[in-house]
Amino acid sequence: TTVEWEAASYDMGGHDTYMHKEIHEQADAVDRVLRGRIDDRFSTVHLGGLNLDAREARQIRRVKILGCGTSYHAGMIGAQMIEELARIPADAEPASEFRYRNAVVDPDTLYIAVSQSGETYDVLAAVQELKRKGARVLGVVNVVGSAIAREADGGIYVHAGPEVCVVSTKCFTNTTVAFALLALHLGRTRDLSVRDGKRIIEGLRKLPAQIAEMLEQEEEIKKLAQEYAEAHSMLFIGRVRGYPVAREASLKLKEVSYIHAEAYPASELKHGPLALIEPALPTVAIVPDDDLLEKNRAAMEEIKARSGKILAVAHQHQEKADQTIVVPKNEDELDPILMGIPLQLLAYHTALALGRDIDKPRNLAKSVTVE
Ligand code: G6P
Repeated sequence: TTVEWEAASYDMGGHDTYMHKEIHEQADAVDRVLRGRIDDRFSTVHLGGLNLDAREARQIRRVKILGCGTSYHAGMIGAQMIEELARIPADAEPASEFRYRNAVVDPDTLYIAVSQSGETYDVLAAVQELKRKGARVLGVVNVVGSAIAREADGGIYVHAGPEVCVVSTKCFTNTTVAFALLALHLGRTRDLSVRDGKRIIEGLRKLPAQIAEMLEQEEEIKKLAQEYAEAHSMLFIGRVRGYPVAREASLKLKEVSYIHAEAYPASELKHGPLALIEPALPTVAIVPDDDLLEKNRAAMEEIKARSGKILAVAHQHQEKADQTIVVPKNEDELDPILMGIPLQLLAYHTALALGRDIDKPRNLAKSVTVE
């Protein structure tokens, strides 16, 4: 069985699909997840429902993030933010894999369950198993009062508002922002400086306007999508911060357009995927303007040398790429939040060009409440 939103009860607000509406709600949604949480005096954030005092926060030795689908990808971004800002070793894993491999449950690890619906069975079952073994589990959840939110010891609501389209867009973005807040909070109870705290807060405050700016490029992205709709398969590459963005963009495209897509760390290209490169296999390269820029340029060069076509998502025009979508630059640690947004539009317009059932892709459900 699956949980279905009562889609008819939500106003379309002039949009043809919920996906389009939800993509365009993101500046407001991000504003909501930030609202009332920033503490300028101590350059940190307050997360009222966390149930984790400063002493407990300092005792965490590891963070393990569990989720499925898009929420898993948001968790991958969250893990990187926690490592970068709080310097706690962190990683994300699909909740079902974690459950079935009989993972070691460690008392000094903070477990975080991520779920838009708060009802995904694999995530809920992982939370219950963890709690049974005495672990501390937080939830990063959208739907207030949902099963995972109730089961967790505390957590953060992502306040994206109701998401109707089966594929997640605004909730993904808000979840990554919620993780930035958590990473900042954990960082400031540990070794993150006041100055870095301030820098991240300034970056967070810029997000809504930058999202709005990004969405203004919709017409150009639509034209690109009409071109890419002819592809049978697409490759998405990224490195470190760009890799989870590539994963999520590839998932979005395959879910909604049914075009086969695969995401790879850019550094792994030479260990296999280069064999696939030819003019008919376009690559989307996530190329943030950070310390890995030159490495990413080299990866694009490898692809060009084999006549591959490249669409770059970057902070400045990329000569090695055939086309570039330019995304507004934020703080390095927060860049993944914005870089996914043009790729939601790319997936959307590709699916539209192919006449797909955008809000209800075949074989998928908004929330999978069975094993
Ligand atoms: C389903 C949906 C995905 C979603 C995943 C996790 O597979 O089709 O879009 O990402 O469940 O859902 P959750 O509600 O736990 O975030």
